Amino acid sequence: MFKYLITMLLFGALTIALVSFNHSGNENQFTVNTPAQDSIFGKAAVHYQTYCGGCHGEKMNAFADRNWKHGNSRDDLFKAIKLGYHDEGMPAFDETFADKETYQLADYIISGIKNVNRYISSDKPKSNTFKTELLTIRLDTVVTGLEVPWGIAFLPGGEMLVTDRNGKFYHIKKNGTKTLITGTPEVVNAGQGGLLDVIADPQFASNKFIYLSYSKGKTEGGKTQATTAIMKAKFENGRLTGQKDIFVAEPYSSTRHHYGSRMQFGRDGYLYFSVGERGGHNENPQQIKGNDLGKVHRIKPDGSIPADNPFTNTPGAEASIYSYGHRNPQGMTIHPETGKIWVNEHGPRGGDEINIVDPGKNYGWPDITYGINYNGKPMNPDTKTEKENMEQPLYQWTPSIGPSGMTFVTGNRYKGWEGNLMSGSLRFQYLNRSVLKNGKVVSEEILFKNIGRVRDVRMAPDGFLYIAVETPGTVYKLVPVSK
Ligand code: HEC
Repeated sequence: MFKYLITMLLFGALTIALVSFNHSGNENQFTVNTPAQDSIFGKAAVHYQTYCGGCHGEKMNAFADRNWKHGNSRDDLFKAIKLGYHDEGMPAFDETFADKETYQLADYIISGIKNVNRYISSDKPKSNTFKTELLTIRLDTVVTGLEVPWGIAFLPGGEMLVTDRNGKFYHIKKNGTKTLITGTPEVVNAGQGGLLDVIADPQFASNKFIYLSYSKGKTEGGKTQATTAIMKAKFENGRLTGQKDIFVAEPYSSTRHHYGSRMQFGRDGYLYFSVGERGGHNENPQQIKGNDLGKVHRIKPDGSIPADNPFTNTPGAEASIYSYGHRNPQGMTIHPETGKIWVNEHGPRGGDEINIVDPGKNYGWPDITYGINYNGKPMNPDTKTEKENMEQPLYQWTPSIGPSGMTFVTGNRYKGWEGNLMSGSLRFQYLNRSVLKNGKVVSEEILFKNIGRVRDVRMAPDGFLYIAVETPGTVYKLVPVSK
């Protein structure tokens, strides 16, 4: 057991969470630390900020997550920094840094590369049983024959509803039989859109209501515009009846991405859901007037607006808005003790976030983010990691894991995981386990490496966790077994 002593330095803007590798033998488990590792990298973090950030973005961990043209070994990096690539616009730094400092910069960047590589595996899992840090888990296949299962909802009696993004909606009986449900909405099945989340009414046993989020289209001047909508319907005898859109986000957009659209019932009996910014990051998330995009909303189950929503008295504001400044939240859950709504959301390159959603608060996108633009530059010239009156995320992932689905582990089936927060990873194709202590993420574990894009994770009434994995679309049940 060997651990580095971390020297904590205060750098105004440098708040990238570095990771100190835990040398206890389990490479999938790591603790989370704040910067900066002065003793190992010398002044590399400051040098990076000062000399590299202007072109490559100030966040080294985001820069390190790239396709390397000239190799990423220590010597490749040393050579790139010392001699530059004049023809490509990369200056030489041989007169700026002593060789030792250049190697420290290379090592610093390598720490960022390791931070990316720990998620990556080229091997598919060899068996359905996984030895994890605390538990051995068997993945039992519950549903197959899906394409992109997006949302799972549980009904009384061990039944399940599963959406497929392609527009199909399935009823899974307790014995595992799968039947298509009729009466579903017409969806714009393109890009990231289609049939998305599903949730059952808290009183489903008596009222039979369910809610579906989906990409709704309209044609204008021969072009299809799409938006996030929520349909309420009765589910009885294998079909939907009494369908009604209780929410249609405005404005529609010609893009096909960032629909958000996770739903969750609060303890107040109201329906919370996310709407992504549809790619219009400079137009939508910060605009609360006449704009539902890049927001978390709160409505009553009939679609009407609770009187105490935060912006009901703000002239011109959309009264359904509960919080704003979001990018694309695709995970939403309720904290088992506080009852607060938690979301995870996709950042750009780096800067995926976990946020606790509070009424009226601004979560800052795109004015603050820990990510950089896909072209490697800062989002906007004045984008920072922190600004006044904008909420800091509870946690941020750099590199981006592409989070989708979210749940707390409750009950007593998973010894040692109680109270942990699970998030699916689309990009790195695993299930993320976040350990929380005093309201902060203190460590994480990569579960089921390379299993496929994990689109949803839920805690079922039977006390088991279920995950939905894409192409081939499969729902698995996580069964703890003795080691
Ligand atoms: C004037 C802008 C500029 C500055 C300052 C700059 N770079 Fe670069 N760098 C570039 C460009 C342009 C490229 C080539 C295009 C690309 O790969 O992004 C590049 C490429 C690189 C590469 C090779 C990437 C690969 O794919 O193989 C490395 C490594 C690198 N830079 C590191 C650094 C470091 C470390 C610093 C700070 C000491 C730095 N750069 C400062 C513009 C800059």
